[in-house]
Amino acid sequence: MENDEVISRETNRDHATYPDVDYRGKLILAPMVHAGNLAMRLECLSYGADLVYGEEIIDRRISSTVRTYNDAYNTVEYRSRKDGTFVFSTNREERGKVVFQLGTADATQALLGAQKVVQDVCAVDVNMGCPKSFSVKGGMGAALLSTPLVATDILKTLRRNLPCPVTCKIRLLDTMQKTIDFALSCEDCGIAAIAVHAREKHERPAHAARWDSFRPLKESLSIPLIANGDFMTRRSADKFRKEVGWADSLMIARGALWNPAIFLPEEADAPTRLEVIQKYIRRAITLGHVFQNIKYTVLQMISQDGNLQWNEAMQATRSPRDICDVFDLAEWYSAISPSLPQAACTLQYYRAREIVEDNAFTFAAPAGGGGGGCVAEGEEQQQKENGVEGHPVKRRRLDVDAGVDGDEVCAGGASENGT
Ligand SMILES: Cc1cc2nc3c(=O)[nH]c(=O)nc-3n(C[C@H](O)[C@H](O)[C@H](O)COP(=O)(O)O)c2cc1C
Repeated sequence: MENDEVISRETNRDHATYPDVDYRGKLILAPMVHAGNLAMRLECLSYGADLVYGEEIIDRRISSTVRTYNDAYNTVEYRSRKDGTFVFSTNREERGKVVFQLGTADATQALLGAQKVVQDVCAVDVNMGCPKSFSVKGGMGAALLSTPLVATDILKTLRRNLPCPVTCKIRLLDTMQKTIDFALSCEDCGIAAIAVHAREKHERPAHAARWDSFRPLKESLSIPLIANGDFMTRRSADKFRKEVGWADSLMIARGALWNPAIFLPEEADAPTRLEVIQKYIRRAITLGHVFQNIKYTVLQMISQDGNLQWNEAMQATRSPRDICDVFDLAEWYSAISPSLPQAACTLQYYRAREIVEDNAFTFAAPAGGGGGGCVAEGEEQQQKENGVEGHPVKRRRLDVDAGVDGDEVCAGGASENGT
């Protein structure tokens, strides 16, 4: 495709949004490399997240995949042409609620990547905040904050050529005025919303997110502002929304990774820690996520629990069965394993599986219009049998302290193969 075909320099101030995506009043799962897999996204949705971002995937990595339908898991998978491993997957349950995040430094490549997945996602986001050298050296992530012409070229190109909303996620620049100017130039591209991680690119999670920066941003922008940074409990998110209110929606990363049930309303009974972890594990195994990725995600989930026994036992695991043993799921695993495909949850499964391109398959439109959260006939029963239906009866609420650990890692598309 020639650049001229896809790149437009016209400014588009028409903020008409995709009818199904409203960025106001939402609680959103943030993009997280390695951890924002399908199971984690579905878990967050099951507890009440309104929208879920997938992990950042680099433009060329997604555009070079093959779209296939996996009938063993009822998922659409985007698999590497090279080795068959999968790069991104989605299913009917998150239809209308999953946002695809691109890592990119080039408008044409961004569009090719986005066009590849657009039929399966409700919006496309551009990562303009990742500070890691891999991203920045390639002109991606936070590097785009210093190259506004490239950043706006990407946004305009996507906006003019995609049928879905386009958004971006930025960090703070070194002055408030520069941040506002950058955000306004993004708004001028016709994007539907902007997420702001309230830290500068050199700041780490140990630095408190600067919530007061949301106020001038909110006052300057006319598109919805999604506030991100240090919302570690449902209570802190609700307090911010009710009492401070300088944003239209909130986005949560580490708080959700450590406790996906953070999305439950405060007044709801909270599941126990064990219940939350078990439900994630059951979901990840029944979706065929690769063992290394499940292990990584569970280790992240329990990283704030201070439970040495869990931690040591998890470090020693070598298979999904081992993980189930740690969390009292041995019986469940024995019951479910005969129905899993051969070599399930391994890289070999994907390498051995034939790649059959299927661009026609589509999940039936979800009932009730809005999309997402809908389970196909038969799937509901299957989920019950697998023990991954809605969250179980709850007894105890976990509040995770703010500001602990967890750094931003970007440039993914590899979480499912454990790299
Ligand atoms: C494990 C992990 C992976 C992340 N991956 C991404 C990513 O792929 N894209 C992105 O824009 N931000 C990524 N981030 C940053 C988060 O989306 C978020 O901006 C940051 O963690 C601040 O939010 P929090 O305070 O709620 O954790 C990642 C963060 C973590 C902890």
